[in-house]
Amino acid sequence: MTNSKNKNILVTGGLGFIGSHTAVELQQSGYEVYIIDNLSNSSIEVADGIARTTGKKPVVEIFDLLDSVAVTDFFRRHSIDGVIHFAASKAVGESVQKPLHYYRNNLVSLINVLEAMRETGTKHFIFSSSCTVYGQADKMPISEDTPVKPAESPYGNTKKISEDILRDTCAVTTIKSIALRYFNPIGAHPEAHIGELPLGVPQNLVPFITQTAAGIRKELSVFGTDYPTPDGTAIRDYIHVVDLAQAHIAALEYLFRPGHTDSFDVFNVGTGKGNSVLEVIQAFEKATGVKLPYKLTGRRPGDIAMAYADTTKANEVLGWKAKLSIEQALYDAWKWQQKLLEE
Ligand code: WQD
Repeated sequence: MTNSKNKNILVTGGLGFIGSHTAVELQQSGYEVYIIDNLSNSSIEVADGIARTTGKKPVVEIFDLLDSVAVTDFFRRHSIDGVIHFAASKAVGESVQKPLHYYRNNLVSLINVLEAMRETGTKHFIFSSSCTVYGQADKMPISEDTPVKPAESPYGNTKKISEDILRDTCAVTTIKSIALRYFNPIGAHPEAHIGELPLGVPQNLVPFITQTAAGIRKELSVFGTDYPTPDGTAIRDYIHVVDLAQAHIAALEYLFRPGHTDSFDVFNVGTGKGNSVLEVIQAFEKATGVKLPYKLTGRRPGDIAMAYADTTKANEVLGWKAKLSIEQALYDAWKWQQKLLEE
């Protein structure tokens, strides 16, 4: 365990779903948390939710990472020991309709942060990547040396290109970085002061389930029942967002370890288990006691049949392993949804 005392960590996109949960775990591990967010997919109240969870409000600055002058100015005003970079647009379907927005926003933001780090001497960087870089992998479970496939969406391509930018930049600078390839983050912090805040109609399965259970949506559509899986519905690796947040702490500690030499590395972050859509529905009903109305429909374009992680590398190298069950994640997601209904 390195000494986290007085280490300042910048969390870009820190008012977002995974960013806010990571800010909580950072504070509870003794780090000072600084957040930059442009509020494009979050709200300033999330900072209060972090403070209610940990008893400590992070330093929050609201501006866009596309403003390179503002980014460099931030690094000049604060002594930042490490960066965890979440800020990016992340809606797969939207990225197909607005490719230029996604390439500019996700890539220029990353470049601005890396250039400011190089100019001011910050050396440690954790990147929010995604299992989407594997596309439909040929064999399960998916390990880090599974070939990266041509992206199925501009969003997925920005994750691939971002990893290449990191690999090439870290090879010739003093910056050391890790890309964490997330599988499917779900759930909410058990104290229900922070959680997922989907804008509009949820694209992802679990927020659609909780909004259906809350009566906000009429019924869940199960996208596809003819996949080559035991029950015909698609399989994913659903990881509790708190487990995912803790993987970032483990990755940061690994980077801070004296003598750490790799300039860039990638790790899968999942549970190592796969669940089908129907299994998620059953787990939700079991965890909450709420009956979920759903109908079976056709496949959603662009979806893959199956993805779940081989997490051996993160377990052995980072000393991190997911601990929370899918039932716990679904219970916590439901508790958060009910909290939102009270507001
Ligand atoms: C999961 C399963 C759907 C909604 C995406 C991105 C990935 C990451 C997580 C950002 C699929 C099915 C869904 C619904 C359904 N995002 N489903 N009815 O597509 O695996 O991953 O979100 O980093 O990069 O690709 O997640 O939650 O959208 O779907 O049947 O109303 O649930 O078909 O099989 P996905 P998801």
